[in-house]
Amino acid sequence: MGPYDKGPEHSGFSADAIDTSKAHPARMNDYYLGGWDNYEVDREAGDRVLAMHPQVRESAVANRAFLGRALRELTGGGIRQIIDIGTGIPTSPNAHEMAREVAPDTVVVYVDNDPIVATHAGARLTNAERTAFVLADLRDPKAILDHPDVRALIDFEQPVALVMCIVLTFLRDEDDPAACVAAFADALPAGSHLVLTHSTYEPYEGYAEGRVEEWKRTAVEEVYQGSAAPLTLRSKAEVTSLFGPFTLLEPGVVRVPLWRPDGEVPGAAELNDIVFYGGVGRKD
Ligand SMILES: C[S@@+](CC[C@H](N)C(=O)[O-])C[C@H]1O[C@@H](n2cnc3c(N)ncnc32)[C@H](O)[C@@H]1O
Repeated sequence: MGPYDKGPEHSGFSADAIDTSKAHPARMNDYYLGGWDNYEVDREAGDRVLAMHPQVRESAVANRAFLGRALRELTGGGIRQIIDIGTGIPTSPNAHEMAREVAPDTVVVYVDNDPIVATHAGARLTNAERTAFVLADLRDPKAILDHPDVRALIDFEQPVALVMCIVLTFLRDEDDPAACVAAFADALPAGSHLVLTHSTYEPYEGYAEGRVEEWKRTAVEEVYQGSAAPLTLRSKAEVTSLFGPFTLLEPGVVRVPLWRPDGEVPGAAELNDIVFYGGVGRKD
């Protein structure tokens, strides 16, 4: 049984729950981002993905840059609370560091279902004030929303930035990711926002010489199929529909570097290789 099979009722951390026999998406992401919290099995799987699609590393970096822009924008607009679901292994800067560049009083609750992430949370996430880490599964929104640490930090009368970056891609269609998003939306007041990124197999709009062809989609999915959490790649239309009750802010769902860029934007070939869509939606 791997850490992803433990079910939503698992709320405490046990070192036994760390499965190092299979590559793990959180540790593979850490490897792409140049971190040290990964094992041989993660590096091997990561190298297989990078051999097929070398730009996955740039995609991971562009995804973090998107998150920074989105959080600075939302905190600039007055939001002071963040729930970051699918936190990943801490990497610098983390959500509380990004948000606190603008608003030092922002509170952040980190949520992940991976015990490995939990082992690092104490040293690198919850060592800061007004932060918490909750080991829970996003497929059980109620367990997260009712968690005492969430209730202690988050004021559900005030708007929240709900972050789901490269996490719904680890939910299969039968997990009903849209219903998970909707359950969180129901619990949050108007003015709350969803910050979402998601992996795709689609080539960049209008880019003829696509490197993100069908065979690569299959190959990337195959590597992750053997990992602790299989990857489901989705189209722009599917990612857009995940926003559900959240109204998309301009420019909608786009390749992550194109979301309100604060510098030069990559060309079509590079955008084609950045296999993540991102967007921000508002609950009215
Ligand atoms: C690729 S990492 C993304 C990390 C970070 N959000 C980012 O965008 O850089 C995906 C994270 O989602 C977590 N995750 C996957 N499925 C989850 C679930 N059902 N509930 C909570 N966390 C999950 C994994 O453990 C991993 O840490």
